[in-house]
Amino acid sequence: MATLNPIDLSGLNDERLASSVRAQIAEACEKNGFFQVINHGVPVELMDRLKQVGRKFFDLTKDEKLAYAGKPVIGSEGYGSRMVLDDTEPKFWREFVELHTLPVSERHYNYWPQQPAEFRETVEKYTAALLDLAQRLLAVISESLGLKPSYLKEALGEPHQNIVFQCYPPCPEPGKTLGLPAHSDVVAITILMQEGDGLEVAAENDTWELVPNHPNAFVVNLADQIEIITNGRYKSANHRAIVNSDRTRRSYVTFYHPAKDQKIFPAPELVDEKVGPVYRELFYIEYLQALAAERFGGKRLVQSFAIDNPLVS
Ligand code: OGA
Ligand code: NI
Repeated sequence: MATLNPIDLSGLNDERLASSVRAQIAEACEKNGFFQVINHGVPVELMDRLKQVGRKFFDLTKDEKLAYAGKPVIGSEGYGSRMVLDDTEPKFWREFVELHTLPVSERHYNYWPQQPAEFRETVEKYTAALLDLAQRLLAVISESLGLKPSYLKEALGEPHQNIVFQCYPPCPEPGKTLGLPAHSDVVAITILMQEGDGLEVAAENDTWELVPNHPNAFVVNLADQIEIITNGRYKSANHRAIVNSDRTRRSYVTFYHPAKDQKIFPAPELVDEKVGPVYRELFYIEYLQALAAERFGGKRLVQSFAIDNPLVS
C-alpha cells in the first residue's frame, strides 16, 4: 500500500521537497494515521544498540527477568509475560518490559534491568533521540494541517514518554492467538522500531494489512489524542501484532503522552463552523481512567468521547 512506503524525512531540509513530504504525511494521517519514516535523524548505531540491550535482556533466565516484574495493571512498569493459547480473551503471546522515561521524575529505576550493564544508558540515549524525533514529527504534522509548527507540541503540554520492549516468541499454533490484540494507542503519537514482520493495521472490509519491516525505518502511528485534537481529520487506527511459529519477533515502542492534567480538545481551526466539534474536551487523566475501566481490545475507546452530534456521520 502506497502510504506504507517509507517517507524520506531528509526532504524537510530542502524547501523544494518539504511540501511534498508534508503532503505524503497528510495523506497517510488522513487515511489511517500509519506511516514509516527513513532518514529520520536517529543514528542507526543507536537503534542497533537498543535492539541489542533488548535482546540481551529477554535472553536472561525467567528468574532473572522476574526480578523486575511489574503489577499486571495498565500503566504499570516493569517486566511481564502473558501467553494465551486456550479460549481465554483477550489473546496475548508476548513478554514485555515497560518503563516510564519522561518526565525524569517518573523514572522508577528499580524496574530498569541492570543486565545488560549498558541497558540504562542506552535507553536514556535512545528515548532522548526519540523525543526529539516525535517533536519534529509533531511540527510537520501541525504544518500539514495548516497550524503553526508548535501547535501540537503546545496542545499536549509537558511531554510524558514511556517505552515498551515487546518480545513475541515463536508460537506452536500462531493461528490460535495474537501477540497483541487489536487496539488503537491511547497516547498522542507512537514511534515503533520492529525486528521482523508481524504488525498489522486495520484495512477495509475487516481485513488486516501488514506493516512491512523496513531496516532502519520507524513506524509512526497517530494515537487517540491526535485524533481528538484534529477533530477526527487525522486517524488513530486499530492495529495488532500477530505471531509466527518459527522465530522470535521483537519491537521497541516509544509512546508520547500528554501530561495527565492536560486539557485535550479539538483545535478550533479544525472545527467546521456548521458541523461543530466531533469530540468533547477532556483531561488526559480521564482518558486513562476510562482505559483502565475497560478490557483491552474491543470497541475503540475514543468513541466514548465523541459528541452525540446529528451532523457528524
Ligand atoms: C503497541 C503495539 C505492535 C508491535 O505496543 O501498542 O501496537 O508490533 N505494538 O509490537
Ligand atoms: Ni499499539
